[in-house]
Amino acid sequence: MTPLITRPFQLIARTLLMSLFLIGGISNSLLAWDPPAYGQNGMVVAHDELAAEAGRKVLAAGGNAIDAAVAVGYALAVTYPPAGNIGGGGFMVIRMADGRMAAIDYREKAPARANRDMFLDDSGRVVPGLSLQGGLAVGVPGTVAGLQMALDNYGTMKLKEVINPAIDLAKRGFPVNFYLSYALHYLNQAAAKYPETVRVFGRDGNPPKPGEIFKQPDLARTLKTIRRKGPAGFYQGKVAEKLVESVQAAGGIISLEDLENYQPVLRRPVTGEYKGYQVLSMPPPSSGGIALISMLNMLKQFELDTMDWHGADYVQVLTEVERRAYADRSVWFGDADYWPVPTETLLSMAYANTRMADFVWGKATPSEMVQPLGDAAMDSLKAVLRESEETTHYSVVDKWGNAVSTTTTLNWTFGSLVTVNDCGFLLNDEMDDFSAKPGVPNAFGLVGNEANAIQPNKRMLSSMTPTIFVKNDSVRYIIGTPGGSTIITSVMQVFLNAIEERMGIVDAVRMPRVHHQWLPDVIYIEPYALGPETIAALERNGYRVVIRSTIGEVNAIGWDPIFKGWIGAPDQRGAAAAVGY
Ligand code: DON
Repeated sequence: MTPLITRPFQLIARTLLMSLFLIGGISNSLLAWDPPAYGQNGMVVAHDELAAEAGRKVLAAGGNAIDAAVAVGYALAVTYPPAGNIGGGGFMVIRMADGRMAAIDYREKAPARANRDMFLDDSGRVVPGLSLQGGLAVGVPGTVAGLQMALDNYGTMKLKEVINPAIDLAKRGFPVNFYLSYALHYLNQAAAKYPETVRVFGRDGNPPKPGEIFKQPDLARTLKTIRRKGPAGFYQGKVAEKLVESVQAAGGIISLEDLENYQPVLRRPVTGEYKGYQVLSMPPPSSGGIALISMLNMLKQFELDTMDWHGADYVQVLTEVERRAYADRSVWFGDADYWPVPTETLLSMAYANTRMADFVWGKATPSEMVQPLGDAAMDSLKAVLRESEETTHYSVVDKWGNAVSTTTTLNWTFGSLVTVNDCGFLLNDEMDDFSAKPGVPNAFGLVGNEANAIQPNKRMLSSMTPTIFVKNDSVRYIIGTPGGSTIITSVMQVFLNAIEERMGIVDAVRMPRVHHQWLPDVIYIEPYALGPETIAALERNGYRVVIRSTIGEVNAIGWDPIFKGWIGAPDQRGAAAAVGY
């Protein structure tokens, strides 16, 4: 960063901003050198500028936030193949200006022929990689049906009006940014066993370099079929046949009936309250909403705003809250259509207070004490969070105040690596989010039990936490992120930065993050997230601190009370972009 002294104008501007902040709680960025993206009539924040721009165009053409979100969803399926998708699933939390709210669940489902031991060998051990790559890893995709449900119930435009930007991007191509180029080069090598993936995304061994135009004619054709026939163009007919053929050739079990039977679900968001903000987030099959609200409830007994931000006390409180929520996640959370998730109990203050009863200042509560598990779970103490994680979040708000918070994924980077023959899109590896065996950690080091065991047609447990925060009946923040197990704690930290530390949303997103997930019993921190003295104090108190790569890519929006408009906060940890309208 350029030294302050050489930037007198910014210094003056920042001083002015600081006085505004002190007077009115400005939601502008005090630390960012570049001015934040501002939109008087709406805002779209997404993984890349092309996708965000697709959403802005729809807003400018008179569409509402839901129309724009569907446009962004389809555009990301073209511009961001590692995670944007039509071959995966996601969650969309909606809050309409008139107060209606919805949680659209288009999570993938286990195929009808799935069974709980499908990832175990004859001696009952989990076969490494089987739930992550190849046909068996693939859950029945939900995105096309889910986006349609959003549009039909809350949008104002027809599919053909919102899918066109994506078709153009696929047909005419777009200049590949550095990150995508890098990812496609990686994919070209990693997917050697999947020739269709190498052909389409690796361009037969010649993946696009940064700045090169990347065209996807097969995907353009598939999207046109969807434009013509709606979801039937995906779940039935040629595309469906090709999908089944490709999955089965890669060893999978998805059938035409699985596709035909896929239905998204319109659910009610889980809700909570924190310091005057109403929290609306994703219910099961995500663990995110319940865990977020229960952690915020546990935090109510502490005065975070009086503690040093990222000092030893602050980090201890976050860690102990997270440890307890994630311990409970492993036992009680699963697809509520198949398992009785005790949602009300977990959201209650009685639960939060009981859970924190054994908290002791200055002393770690070891994870074994929080929820004793068997040997297998203890093995997971050795598990280390992997570094490459791909999912994507986009946030949209319109001039009427309708808001959309969507997280969508193929699970791991490029999903199962299986591309549907001649159709130009990748399939997810979401089956890994099930608990392949009780107590054995998945790719995110998360352990699960009976509640998240594989059953035919069941949805696998998720951590995706698309969330909207409302105050005085108006949307104030839209927050969400990728990051697997770190999603829930990232959403919480951004919100806490804004509320407790009174950071503008840009800074709230930018600040370094920390994470604990019960097992393994370590505090993960981004580089420079904690000072050496804080780390030393935590270690004296029984905590283990591990520096890892960046955590999440939060794409958020905040309301600006001064200008009465919207600030976009794309995360600098990725190629994210905010486009105001
Ligand atoms: O649903 C989930 O929790 C995971 N499949 C999300 C994966 C993810 O966030 C990977 N990326 N960053």
